[in-house]
Amino acid sequence: MTLNKIPLAGVVGSPVAHSRSPQLHGHWLHRYGLKGFYIPLDVAPDDLEMVLRTLPKAGFVGVNITVPHKEQALKIADEQTDRSIAIGAANTLLFREDGSILADNTDGFGFIHNLRQGAPDWQPAAGPAAVLGAGGAARAIIHALLDAGVSELRLSNRTRDRADALRAEFGSRLSVVDWADAGDMLAGAATVVNTTSLGMLGKPELTVPLGALDATAVVTDIVYAPLQTQLLQTAGRMGCTTVDGLGMLLHQAVPGFESWFGKRPTVDEELRKAVLA
Ligand code: ATR
Repeated sequence: MTLNKIPLAGVVGSPVAHSRSPQLHGHWLHRYGLKGFYIPLDVAPDDLEMVLRTLPKAGFVGVNITVPHKEQALKIADEQTDRSIAIGAANTLLFREDGSILADNTDGFGFIHNLRQGAPDWQPAAGPAAVLGAGGAARAIIHALLDAGVSELRLSNRTRDRADALRAEFGSRLSVVDWADAGDMLAGAATVVNTTSLGMLGKPELTVPLGALDATAVVTDIVYAPLQTQLLQTAGRMGCTTVDGLGMLLHQAVPGFESWFGKRPTVDEELRKAVLA
């Protein structure tokens, strides 16, 4: 970054008005007394490449990428981290001084760090993981769980083909369970993750039977509106340790903030409150 220039960053998506990232990064900039701005950028898919090539010329040091641009941004970038390639999508871009674009994906990082912060005793090798859903979020979470050392991962999705495709890609530690039998795969699972949109405000509830949940399981949800989904409420009543989904959003932002603004930020209760406000 050239001296005296104020670093700019933002989140590129469409729509993007609902994104909590501006509050999140804005809170950190303020807390650490750093110069910089972080803004939402609503960009149409056809304009994505032109915008990404132009932003560095206007003082941007990087951006987050959200729906629907995550796959396209990965392709546009000049270089990709291994984890972004494995996940098949980018959520964080770094604009280098030579004008080149490095793509990263920190969603799996955010997922694992949230899990470790919310359930400090969580052990990846404690037993099988059960993952509900096989969409974009599931890809990052599966990659992160396998990378953390989970040795058996059971996967179930309403559209079975998508789960089978992930098994073909991520390998034999995965097994696929029919959606109708998803409740059965919770038996003996040490880690249970909902990666579907079910349970989110305005969406249907997750109706997978939870009776087989083990009280020693750590149960987490990527849905954070509401914070306490029915899955987490039920699991909590059954004695499970539960971790809500807000922390994944907060933790995924850490590597981007550090590379753009030069300070590794902390995820704590004050940040949660600022983002929920
Ligand atoms: P994301 O990138 O957020 O994961 P996505 O790729 O659209 O979004 O995936 C959404 C996930 O929620 C998928 O696993 C989807 O199941 P399908 O692959 O069968 O579509 C799941 N999902 C959404 N609505 C659902 C519903 N009513 N019942 C079951 N699963 C649902």
